[in-house]
Amino acid sequence: MPRLDQLLASLGYGSRREVRDWLKAGRVTVRGAAESDPGKKVTAEEVVVDGDPLDHPDGLLLLLHKPLGLVCSHDEREGPNVYSLLPPRWRARNPVVTSIGRLDKDTSGLLLLTDQSALVHRLTSPKHKVPKLYRATLDREPPAGLADLFASGTLQLEGEKAPCAPAELRLTGLREADLVLTEAKYHQVRRMFASQGCTVLTLHRSRFGDLDLGDLAPGEWRELPLDTFGPA
Ligand code: URA
Repeated sequence: MPRLDQLLASLGYGSRREVRDWLKAGRVTVRGAAESDPGKKVTAEEVVVDGDPLDHPDGLLLLLHKPLGLVCSHDEREGPNVYSLLPPRWRARNPVVTSIGRLDKDTSGLLLLTDQSALVHRLTSPKHKVPKLYRATLDREPPAGLADLFASGTLQLEGEKAPCAPAELRLTGLREADLVLTEAKYHQVRRMFASQGCTVLTLHRSRFGDLDLGDLAPGEWRELPLDTFGPA
Protein backbone atom coordinates (compact mmCIF):
# COMPACT_ATOMS: atom_id res chain seq x y z
CA MET A 1 0.00 0.00 0.00
CA PRO A 2 1.32 3.49 -0.76
CA ARG A 3 1.98 6.20 1.79
CA LEU A 4 -0.74 8.83 2.01
CA ASP A 5 1.56 11.71 0.96
CA GLN A 6 2.97 9.70 -1.94
CA LEU A 7 -0.45 8.72 -3.17
CA LEU A 8 -1.78 12.29 -3.16
CA ALA A 9 1.36 13.70 -4.75
CA SER A 10 1.28 11.05 -7.51
CA LEU A 11 -2.35 11.95 -8.28
CA GLY A 12 -1.39 15.60 -8.79
CA TYR A 13 -2.72 17.07 -5.54
CA GLY A 14 0.54 18.90 -4.88
CA SER A 15 4.13 18.32 -3.88
CA ARG A 16 4.68 16.06 -0.89
CA ARG A 17 5.35 19.16 1.16
CA GLU A 18 2.07 20.79 0.04
CA VAL A 19 0.21 17.59 0.76
CA ARG A 20 1.61 17.51 4.29
CA ASP A 21 0.23 21.03 4.85
CA TRP A 22 -3.16 19.77 3.71
CA LEU A 23 -2.93 16.93 6.22
CA LYS A 24 -2.03 19.34 9.02
CA ALA A 25 -5.00 21.52 8.04
CA GLY A 26 -7.33 18.51 8.42
CA ARG A 27 -8.42 18.49 4.78
CA VAL A 28 -7.81 14.78 4.31
CA THR A 29 -9.74 11.93 5.90
CA VAL A 30 -8.98 8.23 5.88
CA ARG A 31 -11.95 5.95 6.54
CA GLY A 32 -13.91 8.96 7.78
CA ALA A 33 -11.39 10.36 10.28
CA ALA A 34 -9.02 13.30 9.70
CA GLU A 35 -5.53 11.91 9.10
CA SER A 36 -2.36 13.91 9.77
CA ASP A 37 0.27 11.19 9.33
CA PRO A 38 1.83 11.53 5.85
CA GLY A 39 3.35 8.06 6.17
CA LYS A 40 0.04 6.32 6.83
CA LYS A 41 -0.39 3.36 4.48
CA VAL A 42 -3.67 3.68 2.63
CA THR A 43 -5.71 2.44 -0.28
CA ALA A 44 -7.11 5.09 -2.61
CA GLU A 45 -10.73 4.14 -1.86
CA GLU A 46 -10.44 5.09 1.82
CA VAL A 47 -9.08 8.60 1.21
CA VAL A 48 -11.24 11.73 0.90
CA VAL A 49 -9.88 15.24 0.20
CA ASP A 50 -12.02 18.29 1.00
CA GLY A 51 -15.05 15.99 1.06
CA ASP A 52 -14.38 14.41 -2.35
CA PRO A 53 -13.12 10.94 -3.25
CA LEU A 54 -9.75 10.85 -5.02
CA ASP A 55 -9.57 12.01 -8.62
CA HIS A 56 -9.22 8.96 -10.94
CA PRO A 57 -6.98 6.95 -8.60
CA ASP A 58 -6.84 3.98 -11.01
CA GLY A 59 -5.61 6.00 -13.99
CA LEU A 60 -6.77 8.11 -16.91
CA LEU A 61 -7.54 7.31 -20.52
CA LEU A 62 -8.80 10.24 -22.58
CA LEU A 63 -9.87 10.68 -26.18
CA LEU A 64 -8.95 14.21 -27.24
CA HIS A 65 -9.91 16.12 -30.37
CA LYS A 66 -6.49 17.62 -30.92
CA PRO A 67 -6.68 21.11 -32.37
CA LEU A 68 -4.13 22.43 -34.85
CA GLY A 69 -1.15 24.28 -33.43
CA LEU A 70 -0.40 22.16 -30.35
CA VAL A 71 2.44 19.65 -30.04
CA CYS A 72 2.37 16.27 -28.28
CA SER A 73 5.79 16.77 -26.69
CA HIS A 74 6.08 17.71 -23.01
CA ASP A 75 9.11 19.85 -23.83
CA GLU A 76 7.93 23.46 -23.41
CA ARG A 77 10.64 24.58 -25.86
CA GLU A 78 8.68 22.89 -28.67
CA GLY A 79 5.73 25.22 -28.11
CA PRO A 80 2.25 24.99 -26.60
CA ASN A 81 1.22 21.39 -26.05
CA VAL A 82 -1.94 19.31 -25.86
CA TYR A 83 -1.52 18.80 -22.11
CA SER A 84 -2.28 22.50 -21.58
CA LEU A 85 -5.91 21.56 -22.37
CA LEU A 86 -6.15 19.33 -19.29
CA PRO A 87 -7.01 20.30 -15.71
CA PRO A 88 -3.87 21.30 -13.72
CA ARG A 89 -4.24 18.33 -11.37
CA TRP A 90 -4.08 15.89 -14.28
CA ARG A 91 -1.04 17.70 -15.64
CA ALA A 92 0.70 17.26 -12.29
CA ARG A 93 0.23 13.48 -12.09
CA ASN A 94 3.15 11.12 -11.86
CA PRO A 95 3.31 8.92 -13.94
CA VAL A 96 2.60 11.75 -16.34
CA VAL A 97 -0.30 11.85 -18.75
CA THR A 98 1.18 11.36 -22.20
CA SER A 99 -0.08 10.78 -25.74
CA ILE A 100 -0.38 7.32 -27.26
CA GLY A 101 1.67 7.99 -30.37
CA ARG A 102 1.82 11.53 -31.69
CA LEU A 103 0.13 13.86 -34.12
CA ASP A 104 2.14 16.69 -35.67
CA LYS A 105 1.56 20.27 -34.63
CA ASP A 106 -0.19 20.81 -37.99
CA THR A 107 -2.40 17.72 -37.72
CA SER A 108 -5.77 17.73 -36.00
CA GLY A 109 -7.96 14.89 -34.82
CA LEU A 110 -8.22 11.90 -32.58
CA LEU A 111 -5.45 11.59 -30.00
CA LEU A 112 -5.46 9.27 -27.00
CA LEU A 113 -3.89 10.41 -23.73
CA THR A 114 -3.13 8.24 -20.74
CA ASP A 115 -1.00 7.82 -17.63
CA GLN A 116 -0.87 4.05 -18.21
CA SER A 117 2.56 3.38 -19.67
CA ALA A 118 1.70 -0.26 -20.42
CA LEU A 119 -1.12 0.94 -22.65
CA VAL A 120 1.19 3.36 -24.46
CA HIS A 121 3.65 0.56 -25.16
CA ARG A 122 0.96 -1.89 -26.21
CA LEU A 123 -0.83 0.44 -28.61
CA THR A 124 2.29 1.94 -30.17
CA SER A 125 4.04 -1.40 -30.63
CA PRO A 126 4.33 -2.38 -34.31
CA LYS A 127 2.91 -5.78 -33.31
CA HIS A 128 -0.39 -4.20 -32.32
CA LYS A 129 -1.66 -3.14 -35.75
CA VAL A 130 -4.38 -0.65 -34.82
CA PRO A 131 -5.88 0.84 -38.01
CA LYS A 132 -5.84 4.63 -37.95
CA LEU A 133 -7.82 6.68 -40.47
CA TYR A 134 -6.37 9.96 -41.78
CA ARG A 135 -8.07 12.47 -44.08
CA ALA A 136 -5.63 14.43 -46.19
CA THR A 137 -6.03 17.26 -48.66
CA LEU A 138 -3.28 17.47 -51.23
CA ASP A 139 -1.79 20.25 -53.32
CA ARG A 140 -2.40 18.33 -56.53
CA GLU A 141 -4.15 15.29 -57.94
CA PRO A 142 -2.28 12.17 -56.87
CA PRO A 143 -0.60 10.10 -59.61
CA ALA A 144 -2.43 7.10 -61.05
CA GLY A 145 -1.70 3.83 -59.27
CA LEU A 146 -1.10 5.43 -55.89
CA ALA A 147 -3.64 3.22 -54.11
CA ASP A 148 -1.94 0.10 -55.49
CA LEU A 149 1.49 1.37 -54.50
CA PHE A 150 0.39 2.19 -50.94
CA ALA A 151 -1.37 -1.20 -50.69
CA SER A 152 1.65 -3.11 -51.94
CA GLY A 153 3.77 -2.94 -48.81
CA THR A 154 6.79 -2.00 -50.94
CA LEU A 155 6.92 1.79 -50.55
CA GLN A 156 10.31 2.61 -49.09
CA LEU A 157 10.63 5.97 -47.34
CA GLU A 158 14.02 7.64 -47.10
CA GLY A 159 15.85 6.84 -43.88
CA GLU A 160 13.59 3.90 -42.95
CA LYS A 161 14.87 0.34 -42.62
CA ALA A 162 11.59 -1.34 -43.57
CA PRO A 163 9.09 -0.42 -46.30
CA CYS A 164 5.68 0.92 -45.28
CA ALA A 165 3.21 -1.77 -44.32
CA PRO A 166 0.27 -2.12 -46.72
CA ALA A 167 -2.01 0.91 -46.35
CA GLU A 168 -5.46 1.50 -47.75
CA LEU A 169 -5.95 4.65 -49.83
CA ARG A 170 -9.37 5.87 -50.97
CA LEU A 171 -9.62 9.00 -53.08
CA THR A 172 -12.59 11.00 -51.83
CA GLY A 173 -12.17 14.01 -54.11
CA LEU A 174 -9.77 15.29 -56.75
CA ARG A 175 -7.23 16.29 -54.11
CA GLU A 176 -8.69 14.57 -51.07
CA ALA A 177 -7.93 11.15 -49.73
CA ASP A 178 -8.57 8.84 -46.81
CA LEU A 179 -5.61 6.74 -45.78
CA VAL A 180 -5.67 3.90 -43.26
CA LEU A 181 -2.32 3.10 -41.64
CA THR A 182 -1.58 0.31 -39.18
CA GLU A 183 1.81 1.66 -38.15
CA ALA A 184 3.24 5.05 -37.22
CA LYS A 185 6.53 6.02 -38.75
CA TYR A 186 7.62 9.62 -38.22
CA HIS A 187 5.38 12.01 -40.26
CA GLN A 188 4.31 8.94 -42.18
CA VAL A 189 1.28 10.26 -44.06
CA ARG A 190 3.05 13.41 -45.20
CA ARG A 191 6.15 11.44 -46.22
CA MET A 192 4.18 8.78 -48.12
CA PHE A 193 2.46 11.42 -50.24
CA ALA A 194 5.64 13.49 -50.58
CA SER A 195 7.49 10.44 -51.92
CA GLN A 196 5.04 10.55 -54.86
CA GLY A 197 5.25 14.30 -55.45
CA CYS A 198 2.21 15.42 -53.43
CA THR A 199 2.29 17.86 -50.53
CA VAL A 200 -0.25 17.29 -47.77
CA LEU A 201 -1.99 20.62 -47.13
CA THR A 202 -4.27 19.53 -44.29
CA LEU A 203 -4.26 16.36 -42.23
CA HIS A 204 -6.84 15.12 -39.77
CA ARG A 205 -7.09 11.77 -37.96
CA SER A 206 -10.72 10.76 -37.65
CA ARG A 207 -10.47 7.20 -36.29
CA PHE A 208 -8.21 5.12 -34.06
CA GLY A 209 -9.27 1.46 -34.18
CA ASP A 210 -13.00 1.41 -33.45
CA LEU A 211 -12.96 4.85 -31.85
CA ASP A 212 -14.07 8.08 -33.50
CA LEU A 213 -14.39 11.69 -32.37
CA GLY A 214 -18.18 11.73 -32.17
CA ASP A 215 -19.28 15.32 -31.61
CA LEU A 216 -16.17 16.49 -29.75
CA ALA A 217 -15.10 19.97 -30.82
CA PRO A 218 -11.37 20.71 -31.26
CA GLY A 219 -9.82 21.02 -27.79
CA GLU A 220 -12.47 18.85 -26.10
CA TRP A 221 -11.95 15.36 -24.73
CA ARG A 222 -13.98 12.54 -23.28
CA GLU A 223 -12.95 9.88 -20.83
CA LEU A 224 -12.69 6.27 -21.91
CA PRO A 225 -12.86 3.23 -19.62
CA LEU A 226 -9.36 2.01 -18.78
CA ASP A 227 -10.22 -1.41 -20.23
CA THR A 228 -11.28 0.02 -23.63
CA PHE A 229 -8.49 -1.99 -25.28
CA GLY A 230 -8.95 -5.05 -23.07
CA PRO A 231 -7.57 -5.89 -19.65
CA ALA A 232 -4.23 -4.26 -18.73
N1 URA B 1 1.37 11.19 -40.32
C1 URA B 1 1.80 12.45 -40.38
O1 URA B 1 2.45 12.84 -41.34
N2 URA B 1 1.49 13.29 -39.39
C2 URA B 1 0.75 12.94 -38.33
O2 URA B 1 0.49 13.75 -37.44
C3 URA B 1 0.29 11.61 -38.27
C4 URA B 1 0.62 10.75 -39.28
